[in-house]
Amino acid sequence: MRSICGDLLLQRLGPEGPAALARPINRSLYECIRAAILDGSLGPQTRLPPSRDLAAELGLSRNTVMFAYEQLLAEGYVHARTGSGTFVAATAPEAYLNAKAAEAKSAQAPSMPGLSPRGAELLANASASPSQWGAFMPGVPDVTRFPRRRYAQIAARLWRNPVPAWLSYCHGGGLPALREAVAAHLRVARSVQCDASQVLITEGIHQGIDLVVRLLGMPGEQAWVEEPSYWGIRGLLQMSGIHMVPVPVDEEGLTIPAQHHSGPCPAPRFIFVTPSHQYPLGAVMSLNRRRALLEYARSHGSWIVEDDYDSEFRFSGHPIPSLQGMQTEAPVIYIGTFSKTLFPGLRMGYMVLPRTLADAFQTAHSELYRAGHLVTQATVAEFMHAGDFAAHIRRMRLLYGRRRAILADLIERYLGANALHRYGSNAGLHLVLCLPDDADDVAIAQEAGRRGILVRPLSRYFLGNVVQRGLLLGYAGVPEEEIGPAFEILLGCLGDKGPSRGRRSA
Ligand SMILES: Cc1ncc(COP(=O)(O)O)c(C=O)c1O
Repeated sequence: MRSICGDLLLQRLGPEGPAALARPINRSLYECIRAAILDGSLGPQTRLPPSRDLAAELGLSRNTVMFAYEQLLAEGYVHARTGSGTFVAATAPEAYLNAKAAEAKSAQAPSMPGLSPRGAELLANASASPSQWGAFMPGVPDVTRFPRRRYAQIAARLWRNPVPAWLSYCHGGGLPALREAVAAHLRVARSVQCDASQVLITEGIHQGIDLVVRLLGMPGEQAWVEEPSYWGIRGLLQMSGIHMVPVPVDEEGLTIPAQHHSGPCPAPRFIFVTPSHQYPLGAVMSLNRRRALLEYARSHGSWIVEDDYDSEFRFSGHPIPSLQGMQTEAPVIYIGTFSKTLFPGLRMGYMVLPRTLADAFQTAHSELYRAGHLVTQATVAEFMHAGDFAAHIRRMRLLYGRRRAILADLIERYLGANALHRYGSNAGLHLVLCLPDDADDVAIAQEAGRRGILVRPLSRYFLGNVVQRGLLLGYAGVPEEEIGPAFEILLGCLGDKGPSRGRRSA
C-alpha cells in the first residue's frame, strides 16, 4: 500500500516515475522532497514514510532514500524523533529567506477568472462574524450547558454497532425515527399541524431556505422580507436571483403594503416571516395580521416561509403557536432548527412541508445536497425520544430568562427604559438596545469588538433605508456573573450616546 507522500512524489516525477530522476538519484530525490516542503505540499510536522517503505514504494534502494533524508535532516528541513520517525520541521530554513521572494512572486501572479457578479455581491455583503462565542454574541445558546455526557453516551452506544445504511447517504428526508420525534415535538410545542411524512431533516434553516427558493422560485421573482430582517436570508435569495422587497414591521409584525391590498401590484412568490419572535426586533405577529397574511398568500398564490428559529424560548406569558398551525393545509412552509435548542455546530434543522410538496422536497434534497449524518440523526432522535431534549429546553428556558432579566435591568438602570426596544418581548436569545438616530452603531460595535465584546449593529439588518440605530446583544451564552462586567465595557464604548442620556442610579 502506497503512502500519501509516495503518491505525491510519484505525481511530481510524472509517468516515468523514479526513472525521471536525474543523476545522482539520491540528490534529485532530496531536491524533490525539499521542493514539496518549501511549497507547503508537505506541511510542518508531516510524518515522512519510513525509508524502507518509501524505497519500496518508489522502487529505489533504501540507501538512496536514507541519503535524501539525512541531507534534509542536516539542513534542518526535517527532524527525527527516536522511535517515532522523521517529520517535516515546524519552520523550514528557507521560509524566512524566501518570504520576500514569494510575496513578490504572488504579486505578479497572472490574473485568473474572478468571482461571478453574484458571487462578488455575496462577498461584498458578507455578514457572518469571525467570532461566534463570547459576551454578547447574538443568536448563540449556552453551548457549555449542553448535556454532552448524556448525548455522548447515546452516540457511543450507537457507534458501537451502527446499522450499515446509517454510514451511507441519506435519502427520503431523513431518518424516520428523527422525523417522528420532530413531528411529535412540533405538534405539542409549536402547534404545527403535521405528521412525520411532511418532515424533512436539513442542515439548518439556511439550507431549508435555499431549498425553498430553488424549488419554488425562478430568477427575477419577488420575495417580501421583513424590514429589518435576518441578514443570513439575503445572500441565499440573491444567489437564486430572487428580487427582495423589504416590507416594514411594526409591533404587530409584518405590515402588508397598502397598495397590495387593493391595487394590481404583482404578488410576491415568497413572504419570509418570523411571526413568533420577529428577528431582530422581537415583535409577535398579531392574530389579525396572521389571518390577513394567510388570506393574502392563499388568494395571491404566494408561499409564506415561516422561520421559527428560537420560539422554544419564551420566558413568560402564553406560548405563541406557529402560523402554520392556524389553518389546515395553510400555504406555509415551516422551517426550524436545532441551532438554538441544542447547538449551532450540530448543523441540523427541519422543515414541515405541505403534503403536496413533501415527496418532491425530500427527493430534491438528496439530489442537491447528497445528505448524510444518519448516526447523528439517530442520536438526536433517541435524545428526543428519551425526554432529554424537552428537559434541556426547560432548563435553558429558566437560565436564559434569568440572564435576560439581568441584562434588561442593567440597560434600564444605566440607559433608561426607552433604551430597550419597545417591540421586544420576554423571549429569545438576544435583545435590542436602542441608540439615538445620530449614533454610529457600526463604529460602536467595532470599538466593542476591539475591547472583546461582540455585538451587532442594528443598522446592518436593514435592506433599504436605515430607520433605527441600535445594538443586538445576545445574553443566552453569558454566565450571570459576567453580564455586569461585560456590560460595563460596552457602556464605555457608547461615548456620548451612553449613560448620560439615561437615568444613572448605581
Ligand atoms: C432568524 C434566524 N433564522 C435562521 C438562523 C440560522 O439558523 P440555522 O443555524 O439553522 O441555519 C438564525 C441564526 O441566528 C436566525 O437568527
